[in-house]
Amino acid sequence: MVLSKTTSESDVSVHSTFASRYVRSSLPRYKMPESSIPKEAAYQIINDELMLDGNPRLNLASFVTTWMEPECDKLIMAAINKNYVDMDEYPVTTELQNRCVNMIAHLFNAPLGETETAIGVGTVGSSEAIMLAGLAFKRKWQNKRKAEGKPCDKPNIVTGANVQVCWEKFARYFEVELKEVKLSDGYYVMDPKKAVELVDENTICVAAILGSTLNGEFEDVKLLNDLLTEKNKETGWDTPIHVDAASGGFIAPFLYPELEWDFRLPLVKSINVSGHKYGLVYAGIGWVIWRSKEDLPEELIFHINYLGADQPTFTLNFSKGSSQVIAQYYQLIRLGFEGYSNIMENCKENAMVLKEGLEKTGRFNIVSKDNGVSLVAFSLKDRRLHDEFEVSEYLRRFGWIVPAYTMPPDAQHITVLRVVVREDFSRTLAERLVMDIEKVLRELDLLPSKFLKLNDGKNGHWTKKSELETQKSVTDAWKKFVLAKKMNGVC
Ligand SMILES: Cc1ncc(COP(=O)(O)O)c(C=O)c1O
Repeated sequence: MVLSKTTSESDVSVHSTFASRYVRSSLPRYKMPESSIPKEAAYQIINDELMLDGNPRLNLASFVTTWMEPECDKLIMAAINKNYVDMDEYPVTTELQNRCVNMIAHLFNAPLGETETAIGVGTVGSSEAIMLAGLAFKRKWQNKRKAEGKPCDKPNIVTGANVQVCWEKFARYFEVELKEVKLSDGYYVMDPKKAVELVDENTICVAAILGSTLNGEFEDVKLLNDLLTEKNKETGWDTPIHVDAASGGFIAPFLYPELEWDFRLPLVKSINVSGHKYGLVYAGIGWVIWRSKEDLPEELIFHINYLGADQPTFTLNFSKGSSQVIAQYYQLIRLGFEGYSNIMENCKENAMVLKEGLEKTGRFNIVSKDNGVSLVAFSLKDRRLHDEFEVSEYLRRFGWIVPAYTMPPDAQHITVLRVVVREDFSRTLAERLVMDIEKVLRELDLLPSKFLKLNDGKNGHWTKKSELETQKSVTDAWKKFVLAKKMNGVC
């Protein structure tokens, strides 16, 4: 990102060990080099530097797919030079995206007749999909207000405080007030009752999440639909619902087909899903589906013809890669309903193995629900001496990337660790992770607290440490630890 800071003012060069076989001088870090270098050197320099990145398979922070079959990798590489927007030049790719839109719309129970095609579009991810859905709601609401001769300059959207940052982006970029339902202790998703209370005549939609980013829990869209239907009847408004099914959209249809969260509910007018999460495609694909043509105002669709025939487009970007669309189509036909069901079932089982392993340690409260996105969110029962951030930091030494974060208002005093269980996270890895977490806990138990010290040991009271004291006690403990290893170690 352009806003990033340089790591060190003095370190202005990029050095590479093995590339010195091809080039002897180092490269400027932040300025384009004056002259060219051999392709082997460029490859070696970049490859060497990238080795310091984490291992994507061990990145348990992310919902995004990190493994696909080699056959699909082949299709991706073959399409890497196709710009998706050149629809007239690549009509088959366009056709594949249309098939994906229709398959997903059917999966979400869109009310389509036998010969009707679905309304939707492929995007870069759920964030773009949400921007488009939000814009459609805003424009529809404005059109209605204008037709009624009412002001339309103060639109708002109602969500839970647990929404992903893309909703805050939508609100700020497109000037819509975000009215957030606060969370509470032990309740980490949007309460439909409180959400409906926040709805007023300026509400363009209520956004429910199928699979909260923070703890994977599904929000109760059915209850929201029922309560909002009542409110709409009382007030004469027709406030709609959007479902942010970024993760859950490719889980619920397979694991919980009876759960009503999608277009079966009349107020649900649009749904987004990330193809690159449980849609099982590498990063760079999302989808937004509208219930019907009436829910996507025609004036938001641009028609261009300078690439060939007339092309309707409704996206934020113009150019983008074709590979991800093709990869999504591959997964849909390769796996089918059966394949997705098996994978989702497997993820759920592995999440349960992890959850039970963590429960057995007796040290954690589980904050996620069994029937949601396959993830385990957990917090320390006793965090007087050590906190979740330290557990996360220490797990890094074993290669695991497990994020720790605080919950949004009014549950900000709760910190959780979260492990996302993707297709590539096996049962063996789940068991291994529990073992490593146990090791980390044992190590932390031996380390002094970074926050507290026992107050002269007489009254048994703990007091807060100064920063210097914290640094000293951590260094001392490490010295002891390293020394003990040296004494016992056999090289
Ligand atoms: C509920 C939810 N909505 C939206 C997003 C944004 O998705 P994307 O990364 O596909 O833009 C995420 C990402 O984690 C999410 O969890």
